[in-house]
Amino acid sequence: MITYHSKAARELLAFYAEAGVDSAVGERANDWLADERANAPAPAEISTSPTSPAVRRASAPVPAAMPAPPPTPDAAVMAARDAARSASSLEELRAILDRFEGCGLKGSASRLVFADGNPQSRLMFVGEAPGAEEDKQGLPFVGRSGQLLNRMLAAIGLDRTQVYIANIVPWRPPGNRTPTPVETQICLPFIQRQIELANPDILVTIGQPSTGALLSIQGIMKNRGRWFAYQTGTREIRAMPILHPAYLLRSPIAKRLAWRDLLAIKKALD
Ligand code: URA
Repeated sequence: MITYHSKAARELLAFYAEAGVDSAVGERANDWLADERANAPAPAEISTSPTSPAVRRASAPVPAAMPAPPPTPDAAVMAARDAARSASSLEELRAILDRFEGCGLKGSASRLVFADGNPQSRLMFVGEAPGAEEDKQGLPFVGRSGQLLNRMLAAIGLDRTQVYIANIVPWRPPGNRTPTPVETQICLPFIQRQIELANPDILVTIGQPSTGALLSIQGIMKNRGRWFAYQTGTREIRAMPILHPAYLLRSPIAKRLAWRDLLAIKKALD
């Protein structure tokens, strides 16, 4: 028999799962507002008459201090641009990004997923956003899509230690939803600076979201495998959109297109 409490608990868990909360971070529930309540100002001295309106107001629960409202999207994009510009190395950029509070995704993700591979590589791949496995490990492309990406690299004689890999958005969106245009715009200055600092010769945008954000190109099917110019900020490099491994897992027939694109990338490196 399902009691009221176990039914409510199941519904709550189902709600959490849909919202992307799929792992516990501790054994015991944490009251995150306890500190704020403890630090809230004490009620003012008031008339001692138990029936006075002031007494009745004062005995009502003291509301917790309100958290600062989030910055407007424009302010967050401006702050991201300034913050990204101030980084003079990839390590600094990572630290700045880790402290950045302008993107709401940071609050729901477990950790920052900055990059993997070799930042000195001539070849850089940029995907969309971390999924559940990437969020757990703090590394991009380590789930099912990442395993296929590894096999794609192996097909042209490369492994992860020979390429540099990052995402447009470095925090996992809840429930793996698509990042909103505002979230993407806020994160864009950071990945642009990351590309500039890594300074690859060839940039590969993985899937439409990355291609749209970095190359301002729509239509991955007609543009994959083509070369585009990308301005890093200090020079022009070559960029190629490829199909996302998540798409290739759903449509294995398209792997032959990906294979063609990988050969073109290999040729450009030689
Ligand atoms: N898909 C992406 O675009 N990036 C990852 O890191 C993982 C899956």
